Amino acid sequence: MERLRDFLIHKKQEGLLRTLRPISARQGTKIRLGGKDYIDFSSNDYLGLSGHPRLIEASNKTAQEFGTASSASRLLSGDLQIHHQLEEAVARLKNKESALVFNSGYQANIGIISTLFNKGDCIFSDRLNHASIIDGIMLSGARFLRFKHNDMEQLEVLLKRERARFKRALIVTETVFSMDGDRCPLKELVVLKEKYNCQLMVDEAHATGIFGQRGSGMVEEEGVSEQVDIIMGTFSKAMAGFGAYVAASKEIIEYLINTSRAFIYSTALPPAVIACDIAALALVKEEPLRRKSLLESARYFRQGLRDKGFQVKGDSQIVPLIIGDNLKAVEAAQKLQEKGFWVLPIRPPTVPQGQARLRFSLSYDHDKEVLDRLIQVIAESVTCS
Ligand SMILES: Cc1ncc(COP(=O)(O)O)c(C=O)c1O
Repeated sequence: MERLRDFLIHKKQEGLLRTLRPISARQGTKIRLGGKDYIDFSSNDYLGLSGHPRLIEASNKTAQEFGTASSASRLLSGDLQIHHQLEEAVARLKNKESALVFNSGYQANIGIISTLFNKGDCIFSDRLNHASIIDGIMLSGARFLRFKHNDMEQLEVLLKRERARFKRALIVTETVFSMDGDRCPLKELVVLKEKYNCQLMVDEAHATGIFGQRGSGMVEEEGVSEQVDIIMGTFSKAMAGFGAYVAASKEIIEYLINTSRAFIYSTALPPAVIACDIAALALVKEEPLRRKSLLESARYFRQGLRDKGFQVKGDSQIVPLIIGDNLKAVEAAQKLQEKGFWVLPIRPPTVPQGQARLRFSLSYDHDKEVLDRLIQVIAESVTCS
């Protein structure tokens, strides 16, 4: 017990203690917390769909029809027709032969990677990949090689040196990085994967619903769906639902159904959640204006910060402001919270040491007036090292 106490004291001193802060009410981007109202800049409800009447109605109707739970894993009696309807819709959206739903993005990444790759294989992973990708790689037993963030030269050096020593190889990356808001060089990755005979897997958690003509993601935007072997994504962000998926060849999907422990040994997602995911996929296709307007807001917000002298990278709806020091990031977030903006500090190990930051997660529901006010408050209260 002393070990745990020391750990917690140490974390607090370093500005790294994590705490839970329950929200008592939510209406779009307006949230209530500890008796105070805030505008939320930390949620991933990018398209503002979480309160959409069509999603709520789809969930309610399906709960009435099928009850609250799937009550068993997919391979037992938890497999409903709507799970298949959702998978068919995902496969179409992602332009792939087949798709499989997992219960969360975390489960999907560990379930996909650790099943398809094993000891004797090699995985090349971007250094800033999400924890679920890293955990999937660790679980796989494959040789784990990391390349500097988006550094294709270093990736090629590693591929030249290591690829031939392994039977199968995977290159894995996020398409839009969750804490940096920048994108991977997808076309260059495709060239390397072909040159060195690797498979390519991408995590589209933060790109789905936002990029691409139909909102399919960055793979669609860059026109490389045939070359990307495994496309993973979630319903938990822009789709305002829950769960995740992988879209790939029929063979890969059938193999995962037969071997992926994260898929097999877990109860299927509830019917109401699946219905919500289906409704969200339809809305994303029908309402391209939401993503266009969101990306326009992101450009406006970035430019506003640049005009005030801040350096901001990326070009997505995720806007990071690197502060550096952990305690300074905590203080900066507190200042913005005092002014009514729910912005959180992102600290190691979620981001590399010395790169603590504020992460602004934009939503379709944030209007220009709110963005202007936030830019002004940031300019008055935040200093970056
Ligand atoms: C890039 C990325 N992949 C996977 C996940 C996990 O998704 P989920 O929240 O559905 O478990 C997240 C979300 O935290 C993420 O940002």
